[in-house]
Order: sequence, then structure tokens, then C-alpha cells
Amino acid sequence: MKHFLSLRNIEPSSVLKLIDRAIEIKGGSKPTNLEGKILGMLFFKRSLRTRVSFEAGMAKFGGTAIPISVGSDSWDLETEEGIIMNGDKTEHVKEAAPVLSRYCDILGVRSAPTIGKKEDNILNSFAKYSEVPVINLESNLEHPCQALADIMTIKEKISRPKKMVLTWLPQVKATPVATAHSVSMVGPFLGLDTTIVHPPGYDLDPDFLEFSQNIAENFGGRLSVKVLENGADRDKLFSDSDIIYGKSWVSKAKSETEQSEEFLKYSSFKVSAIPKNSKFMHCLPVRRNLKVSDSVLDSSIVVDQAENRMWTQLAILEDLL
Ligand code: CP
Repeated sequence: MKHFLSLRNIEPSSVLKLIDRAIEIKGGSKPTNLEGKILGMLFFKRSLRTRVSFEAGMAKFGGTAIPISVGSDSWDLETEEGIIMNGDKTEHVKEAAPVLSRYCDILGVRSAPTIGKKEDNILNSFAKYSEVPVINLESNLEHPCQALADIMTIKEKISRPKKMVLTWLPQVKATPVATAHSVSMVGPFLGLDTTIVHPPGYDLDPDFLEFSQNIAENFGGRLSVKVLENGADRDKLFSDSDIIYGKSWVSKAKSETEQSEEFLKYSSFKVSAIPKNSKFMHCLPVRRNLKVSDSVLDSSIVVDQAENRMWTQLAILEDLL
């Protein structure tokens, strides 16, 4: 069964083909096979863009999407194998996934993050028991739909980009790392000179960095990581950068309380200004003037990124269906 779970298990050339197809669809080409199809989407965590971009995309081309907020629209779902289900969870994915497969042609799953854990239990459980393809709508570790939209946006908005900085942003509470892992691949897939910059202790998972490094080498780019204590030093990396991508992410090395307290310590990592010729990107949602200033956001391409979620996801749906 072909799923869309991670950019790490797809041929790099196929990733770029999806982007090219998304650009064609945005330009007016109709996806061939969405008419009459049903997408079931399970949300273990809230969403604005992912939910509406999939619903709108399906509706535009004759399909239907059914979003389910797990636990409020449906039963709470268990993923652990062999467990005695005497807690809050009423139904096991072993039944829920095949049952949904009998109603829907394709499923999407947004997991609840388990901060600090290197597991994708919810997503993997659906992929195991589903009888139809499954799309990762953001798991504990990855957000591949976001990465595709971001690659497309850079291709559209910047002619011949060379340099990208992915910077950690201050956070008032520990924020999942999935998007940062996926965005670490964006510059590499475009062959850019990519720098990831964060304070001490906020390292991304080495497996993702190694993957992104290999992709960068494959496409003639470079990936480096800089660990800095303050935003003024970080800002020096912005010069000549075509893209400055901001994102908060959790530290595996520190407790949630420690990280909340570090908000003040690393508040200089807020992006207050960027060079005139750079474009600012963020996956959204973002807390204005806490992580990024009004002026940077107001001249950014964040809305274009969000729009491109729909076009790239249509290419994924067409490919899987
Ligand atoms: N970027 C993104 O996935 O947005 P939502 O959490 O609103 O879906």
C-alpha cells in the first residue's frame, strides 16, 4: 500500500515531481481522479490550514473530505498493542482504521505530539491497519505536507535562491519539533546553502539532519548547524540570505518548565527585522511580536505558503488515488 508518511521514504526525484505537478494544478490543470472520492481526516490535535486546505482542495475537484476531531467527534482511540483497554480510550485503531477504510478512499492523520519521544505511534498504527492510503497531516516527528508547500513557495517566489536560514524562535511553551524536522529538508531539496541556527540544547534529531545533509549533497547544496546564545549574533547570518524561515521547537534535553523559563533568556531570537532582499517564511500559526515582529510578518510570504498547502496536497492526493 502506498502511503505519504515521510519525505524520507520517497525518491528525491519523486518529491520534486510532486512540486512540479502542484505548480501545474495551480496553473489550471485538473487533478485526474478526485471526483467522487472521500478523504477521512483524523485530528488528534487542532488545525486551521491543514484541515481547510484539504477540505477545500477535495471540494474544488468533486471530492469530499470528512474531518474528525478525535475524542470529541469520535471515540478516543487506542494505539498500543495488546493493552487491556480499561482507561479513557474506547476504540482501538485496529478496528477504527479498517472501518474508516470501508467508507473512505484515503485517510489523513494528524497525531497528538508526544514531546521528547522519538515515536510516531499514532501515524504508524493507522498506516499498519488502514486498507487505503494514509497521508501524514503532521505526526510527532514530521510534517511532510508543510515541507512540500514550502519548497513550492520558494520555487515560485524567488528566482535562483542560494541561501536559506532556518532559525529557532522563542517559545512561551514547548512547541513540537515535527515541522522543524521537515523544514530542515526544504533548502536541501532546492540545493541551497542552508544554515540551521538555535540556542544550546535545541538540537534537531541527528537522523533528520543526516537525511537533510545527504539531500543537500545530492542537489549540490550544503547544510550547517550553528548553536548561538543570542539573537544579535544570529542576525549576522541573515545577510545575503534569500529566505529566513522562523520556527520554534522543543528541546529534548530540557523539561517543559525549563524551556518556558528560557523564554526570557532567548527572547533575542525573536525576528525583529530582516534584510530588504530576504523573504520571511513561517508555517503558521505564529504569535505576533513575541516571535516575529509585525513589520517582518506583514511583508512576508506566509500566506502564499499556506495557500500552497492546498496545491501540493492536491498533487499528493492525485498520486495516491
Ligand atoms: N501549518 C499548519 O500545519 O497549520 P495548522 O496547524 O493550522 O494546520
